[in-house]
Amino acid sequence: MKNILIIGGSGFVGSAIINELARRGEYAGLCISVPTRRPERARQLLVIPTVKLIDADVHNPATLARLMQGQDAVISLVGVLSSVEGQPYGKDFARAHVELPQKIATAASQAGVRRVIHVSALQASADAPSGYLRSKAAGEAALIAADLDLTIFRPSVIFGQGDSFLTLFAGLAKIAPFFPLASPDARFAPVWVNDVAGCVVDSLSNAASIGKHYNLCGPQQYSLRELVKYAAAVAGHPRMVIGLPDAIAWLQAWAMEFLPDPPMTRDNLRSMRVASVCAEGALLPFGRKAASLEAIAPTYLAAS
Ligand SMILES: NC(=O)c1ccc[n+]([C@@H]2O[C@H](COP(=O)([O-])OP(=O)(O)OC[C@H]3O[C@@H](n4cnc5c(N)ncnc54)[C@H](OP(=O)(O)O)[C@@H]3O)[C@@H](O)[C@H]2O)c1
Repeated sequence: MKNILIIGGSGFVGSAIINELARRGEYAGLCISVPTRRPERARQLLVIPTVKLIDADVHNPATLARLMQGQDAVISLVGVLSSVEGQPYGKDFARAHVELPQKIATAASQAGVRRVIHVSALQASADAPSGYLRSKAAGEAALIAADLDLTIFRPSVIFGQGDSFLTLFAGLAKIAPFFPLASPDARFAPVWVNDVAGCVVDSLSNAASIGKHYNLCGPQQYSLRELVKYAAAVAGHPRMVIGLPDAIAWLQAWAMEFLPDPPMTRDNLRSMRVASVCAEGALLPFGRKAASLEAIAPTYLAAS
């Protein structure tokens, strides 16, 4: 493998995948193309000499067709957490999670790029309660319908240096005397970003992973209340968490949707009605053992 295109590669998971590729001898010399809307925000990736940041709009089919030329594999990582509401998923979810995978499937097929790895979300399903999870399922379906060598990963919430989940709670703990928390009993099995990246890179050259999907979970399940308390305590600001009644949580989420980058939306609340945990336990594929939250989180939250 000589060339790889990582769409959404400038983000949290993408950066970990790029670091993992750079670490592995078998991918030395691999040319990693990373299209981004904001190259100035992804400059940290340029310390890896084989990374090529490309200022590009991946939603444009002609641009996508150009990006696909000469690639041996594509990793598809674009995801958004909030969306303007609308049928059937929400406008932004439809664009990022459904239309973009459709365009990737078309462009990859036309360019003869067979190997595609797609990162979806745990509990994505056509009848899920949230637009986020339904749109993720529709994106998977679009890729499955194409004739590609496809592997899909569905992680629970992902933690690690640079996450926007535990780091957000740790940061809020510094300024808030207590936490009024929506959906405190929602369940998660947080998985370490380097484990997700390791699985994605393992699958690249693993023919047995073609046509499969893998749920990715960490070794332990937690409630959202436990995670918030933990993040605050590890950051050195232990805080009381007060669970909000559903009606108040709904109102709070609705109000937050007016913010440019809302920390919580009504759709997020709907997603949390489904436990983001793996039915089959904490197994990662390819013989990997998942790292625990307690082993990793203090290494980056303590400085928050
Ligand atoms: N993080 C988690 O806890 C978690 C859990 C389960 C599943 N996932 C899934 O894993 C994937 C990667 O997540 P992540 O945490 O790495 O996300 P991220 O840090 O937000 O990065 C996503 C990247 O996608 C690009 N992007 C975002 N919106 C876009 C849009 N509308 N059009 C084009 N590009 C866009 C951005 O690139 P530029 O801004 O540089 O253009 C961004 O760097 C996503 O599909 C996500 O749904 C994540």
